[in-house]
Amino acid sequence: MKITFYGHASLGIEISDINILVDPFISANEKASHIDINTLKADYILLTHAHQDHILDAEAIAKRAGAKIVSNYEIVTHYGNLGIEGHPMNHGGNWNFDFGRVKYVNAIHTSSFPDGSYGGQPGGFIIEGEHKTIYIAGDTALTMDMKLIPMQTKLDLAILPIGDNFTMGVDDAIIAADMIECDKVLGYHFDTFGYIEIDHEAAKKKFYDANKDLMLLGIGDSIDL
Ligand code: NI
Ligand code: MN
Repeated sequence: MKITFYGHASLGIEISDINILVDPFISANEKASHIDINTLKADYILLTHAHQDHILDAEAIAKRAGAKIVSNYEIVTHYGNLGIEGHPMNHGGNWNFDFGRVKYVNAIHTSSFPDGSYGGQPGGFIIEGEHKTIYIAGDTALTMDMKLIPMQTKLDLAILPIGDNFTMGVDDAIIAADMIECDKVLGYHFDTFGYIEIDHEAAKKKFYDANKDLMLLGIGDSIDL
């Protein structure tokens, strides 16, 4: 499993030869100006919720690449009305895709579309493929629901928001890592806007002091699990 950070909360995940994009918000992110959405491969686009900073490029990429949208029922219906194929899920549900298994899990946040229309309830994803399992938390507060995850799942990596203000900050993300029993964390949802700028070295030191590893990837950089 290869994971690429495309800035903000945008990720590419490659499992076998299948390409998954998560929450593509790239074309309006000045920090990601070196990423061209027209060259990104996508068989699936996973959307955690309907906020603009998670769905901005989903329609364009899905139409160009013929990608299938995987998200909550309301978001999949929205894209279905635009002629885009999708797979609807809801909280607690699992599905076996050709690349692996996905569970849509709880997140504490909101999920309106940019025009204010209802975007269902926000979520996160647990993705299992090529014998690795990752948790993509989406935009969320720290929540006791996270304790449910290790009851069923041994995570190899957790991708957690750390930018604070709209989501968990670093201190809560460290508690989340304890709850989900995963000490290997990739941070996301930071630095894109003034509200969520963080001190990278201070964040890494806090994780280190809690015996955890916080990775912060440059935009366009990848890790292999
Ligand atoms: Ni959001
Ligand atoms: Mn967001």
